Formats: sequence, C-alpha cells, structure tokens
Amino acid sequence: MSQDGALETLLHEDRVFRPLPQMVIEANANPQTLDNARRQAAEDPLAYWEEAAKELEWFKKWDKVLDESDAPFYKWFTGAKCNIVHNALDRHIKTGNKNKLAIIWEGEAGDSRKMTYFELYRAVNKFANALRSLGVQKGDRVMLYMPPLPETVIAMLATAKVGAIHTMVFAGFSAKAMRDRISDAQPKVIITADGFYRNGRAVHLKSLVDESLMGPDCDSVETVVVVHRANVQVEMQEARDLWYEELVRAESSESPTESMDSEDMLFLLYSSGTTGKPKGIVHTHGGYQVGINRTLNWVFDIKPTDIFWCTADAGWITGHSYVVYGPLIAGTTTVIFEGHPLYPQADRVWDLIAKYGVTVLYTAPTLVRMLMRFGTQYPKKHDLSSLRILGSVGEPINPEAWVWMYKNIGRSECPLVDTWWQTETGSIMISPLPVSVLKPGSCTKPLPAIEADVVDEKGNPVPPGKGGLLIIRKPWPSMVRTLFKDPERYKKTYWEKIPGVYLAGDMARKDEDGYIWIQGRSDDVMNIAGHRLGSAELESALVAHKAVAEAAAIGIPDKIKGEVAKAFVTLREGFDASDDMVKELKIHIRNELGPVAIVKTIEFRDKLPKTRSGKIMRRVLKAEELGQDVGDISTLED
Ligand code: PRX
Repeated sequence: MSQDGALETLLHEDRVFRPLPQMVIEANANPQTLDNARRQAAEDPLAYWEEAAKELEWFKKWDKVLDESDAPFYKWFTGAKCNIVHNALDRHIKTGNKNKLAIIWEGEAGDSRKMTYFELYRAVNKFANALRSLGVQKGDRVMLYMPPLPETVIAMLATAKVGAIHTMVFAGFSAKAMRDRISDAQPKVIITADGFYRNGRAVHLKSLVDESLMGPDCDSVETVVVVHRANVQVEMQEARDLWYEELVRAESSESPTESMDSEDMLFLLYSSGTTGKPKGIVHTHGGYQVGINRTLNWVFDIKPTDIFWCTADAGWITGHSYVVYGPLIAGTTTVIFEGHPLYPQADRVWDLIAKYGVTVLYTAPTLVRMLMRFGTQYPKKHDLSSLRILGSVGEPINPEAWVWMYKNIGRSECPLVDTWWQTETGSIMISPLPVSVLKPGSCTKPLPAIEADVVDEKGNPVPPGKGGLLIIRKPWPSMVRTLFKDPERYKKTYWEKIPGVYLAGDMARKDEDGYIWIQGRSDDVMNIAGHRLGSAELESALVAHKAVAEAAAIGIPDKIKGEVAKAFVTLREGFDASDDMVKELKIHIRNELGPVAIVKTIEFRDKLPKTRSGKIMRRVLKAEELGQDVGDISTLED
C-alpha cells in the first residue's frame, strides 16, 4: 500500500491482535487492573492520581491533589515539596539499583559508554556544583543545545537538581531558531558540545551557538559550557566559554538536591504552533513525574531486567519523558544512540538491539517505514529475540508499517503499542497496554483518568465512524501549565475554542468499539517525520528572503516521512522563478530553521488564493494539490 492511501486503509482496517497468555500473567497491569483503574478513575479521578503519586517519593506530601481555582491554570499536588531528580536518581543510590546500568550509550562510530546509577549520580552532582559555581539558581533558565550524549542527561538532571529550568533546543535547529528561543527564555547558561557524528560526518554545534549569540536579546547568557565530543575546531571566547571537563574536574561528587514546590517549573520546551512564534511549553516537577512514571510502568510494563530503547532525541518531548526522566524514575537502563539509524548501513538499529539485548523498543513510524524499505534481510541477520514490547509515537502509523514491524521484528509475539500524546500532555494519553487487544493503526483507548473524546466544533460527541476534533475533558497531572510569558495564548489555543475542554489540535474518529484512530492535525501544523512544524513558521522564514513577496506552506503526504512541506511562493519584481531560486530558497530555509524543516517542493505562483480580508487560504492550495474538492470558497478574493 502507498502512504497516500494510508487514510483509506485506516478506515477499512479490521484486523485484531491479542497478547500472549504469558504477557497477561506477568504484566504490571493486566486487563483486570486496567478495568478497575478505569472504573475507579471514572468515579474519582483524583483518587486515581493520588494513588499514582504515592508510588514516588516526596519531601513533603501535598495538601491538595488538584487546585482548580484558577482554571485552566490547573495546579497539581499543591503544598507538596519534591524534586524529580530525587526520584530519577538520588533514591536509587540507596537501593539495589545503585550499581545497575542507568545509561548505555553508543556513538556513531561504534564507541560505547556505560554508566551505572551511582556513576550518573556522581557526575550529576559534580555538574550541579559547577552550575551553582556559575551562579545558577532556582528559577534560572539553562539552555541545552546538545547531541545525544550521556552529558546531555547529566546536564538536564544537574539543572533540575539545583532547581533551575532546562530548555533544550534540538541540535537540528539553526542558529537563528536558537536565537529566537534564547531571546524568549533568557538563559543564564548554555550547554553545548563542540560537535557530534552523524552520517559519517562531524557536525559542528558550538559554532552555531557563537553565531546565535551574536544576535540581539542574548545578553542574558553569561557562560557557555562545551562538552568535548567530535574534536572539531572551536573558538573559545575567554570569560564566556568553558570546557565541561575542566569545569567539573575539581567539583565534589556530592551535591544537595533543591527542594521544589510541586508546581515549580522543571523545563520549558518550544513547540510549533499556528503562528510564526514557537510556543514555550511549561512543565513542572510534581505532576510531570507522576504521569511518566505511571505510563512507563503500565504501557511499557517495565521489569527489573529490561533494557529500554526509545529512539527519540532528548531534544523533543519524547526524549525528555521516555529517554531521560521516565526510564530513570523507573530504575531501568536507557539506551542512547548518537548517530543516524542507517549508518553505516540499514541494520544499525537491529545491531544495537542484538548487541545490548534491548527488550523494549519505542520508535517512530517514519523510522519503521524507512527500515521497511530494505525488507527483512537486515533484521534476519541479527538476534532480536530479547525484544518483548514495541512502541510507536509521533504520527499515525499506517497498518502496513505496523504489521511489518509486528511480524518481522516482534515475531508476531511482541505487542506494538501505538501511543498518542503531545509535548503539551507531557506523558502518554491514549494507548493500549501490552495486554490489550490491538488494532493496527489505532492508539486504542484513553488511559485511566484521561477523558479523551471526539467531538464536533461545538463540543458535542460525534457518532462512531465520523471524524471530529480530539479533546480531553479533564485536567491531568503531567499537563502543560501555561505557555512561557504568554498565558493568554495558552488559554486561547487550548481551552477556549471549545470552552472548558482541552483541544488537542488533532482530527480523530472513534470506531464502534470505542477505539480511537488519529487522522492528523486539524490546525496549520505539519507533522514531518514525527516533528511538528508550523506552516506559519515556514512562511515567515520564506518571506524573510529578499526575493519572496508572499508564501504559503502546506503538508503533503510522503511515503516515508508521513508528511513533507510544500511551499507556494510569489516573487518580488526583478526576481526569476528558476531552479537556482528554488535551491537558494531551500538553503535559506535551512539557515533560518535548520535541517528539521524539510521542504520537498517549492512552486512559484503569480498569486496565492486569499480571503477578501487578505488571509492566504492554505486549505485551497492543499485541496488542489491533493486533487480534492476545494470546499467552500465563498470568501475567496476572486
Ligand atoms: O498530531 C499528533 C502527533 O504528534 C502531535 C504532537 O507532536 P509533539 O508535540 O511533537 O509530540 C510528539 C510525540 C509525543 C500530535 O498532536 N502524534 C503523536 N503521537 C501520535 C500522533 N499521531 C498519531 N498517532 C500517534 N500515536
């Protein structure tokens, strides 16, 4: 099947897959647990969350589970004192986990590093002390522009340990994109690496930090800490730039963990929205840990012998929740891989699984489709028998990719859990457990206490089989608290379009069994290889080029990446619509946004379809492009 037909196949998919009896017997949460939890949560969701919170350690217990007095600015576990690092690290040092592997890291060239919980604890303490010596205090922002390295985890945890707020910028973003985030977040310190290896090449990072700091509004940055990785040439600016290794060398390996209010900010993560300005999504210490702990233990059924590999980069929410914090809170071993999954050849993923005995593989449909192209020759060469659970996230997984993975990687034995969630939700919201009955392409049902539904624009539930908007009716602990410096946008984007409920921005439908099938974004946000990119962001990057008068960007289906961007451009007087211009604009976009923004095609037009009030009608362009009915065009200019 082609990806273009994915939606159609989704509508007709009726295969079901059941768990092996052994899975059910041994599961952390079996179907009975799940049913009971659902029933309990339906009657008393707060009791459900309170019980989940009790699985963690708190310095002081909460007075109240949920404070709704300033809704939609919900507060969870108010009055409690905690620090996520205590649960992710400190407490393990006093248990049998102390000498267990926390991190298995492999570099692209095959070099490898392993760290036990105790080693990680000491490294985090040293860096926490170093951060304090740089003047970093509770509430300060620390920006990370890091490749996948153990130091990335160390830096995140050390920041949280001293009570500061980390804000990570994915290393595939440009200097310009980083500058925008610096000017919004105003970090005191930036942590980066000289470079890293990707696809056989050393990629420079530090030089991009230098470039971004040349811009305005970057005065907040006092120090840049640089981790040695790729031995590429870097220029160290005296008084500002410090090598990580030198900075931590003399520091003590003990460091106090700051006691935080449950609602104190843990991190800020920027994500694309419908305007040109990314949203600073705010998460906090208390509720976030409850959400990821529960989901890791139930959805991935974590056992003491597991080796957990989530292939996401720590720079995205999936990495925050399921590469770093979740696995460490659960006391499992998290695998981190630096390089490209097809380097040096298309069996790298299978090689890693076999080498380290990975038991749970959590990945993205894009990667599955990419690997599928090579058939089964590569997986067949490796012993994948350690695997027991597979997971998918980031975009709809087409049933063909699901079944391929299930059969060829999971031996038709490992459940493949399709997990729906977002940067805003913090942890998995709609997902099967490994003991659930699975339908390829459906993320099945909401987890207990998550009241998700599919509704029309007025908020009324739509009948089974009909598409509608995905909403969540009740707050949950790991939810976004606000948008950094923009509480109004938080209210407007999520809570006011359909008053009183959380609007996810996705289209979905429910089937007769109550299973949810996600269809894609309902707003002007594209999902390229599982990464969000706003049409408006791409358009503002394009119009920043001197030749471009106007631009409109839409997502079009792609066999591997799920979606890629196509841009329609009108040029200013005196510029030619040529192949060279296409090349120039593509380079320009890369400079503005970074390699994450993949624009497949640029088409030049004399004019773009607009409403009479001058708004570009992307939906008309999209319908034309896909050969669909353009719908209501009564507001079109001419
Ligand atoms: O459209 C949905 C899609 O990814 C969006 C969230 O993107 P982001 O905040 O970057 O977080 C991605 C990883 C959590 C959602 O609005 N999405 C995420 N998971 C799925 C999905 N679409 C379909 N199926 C999924 N399992």
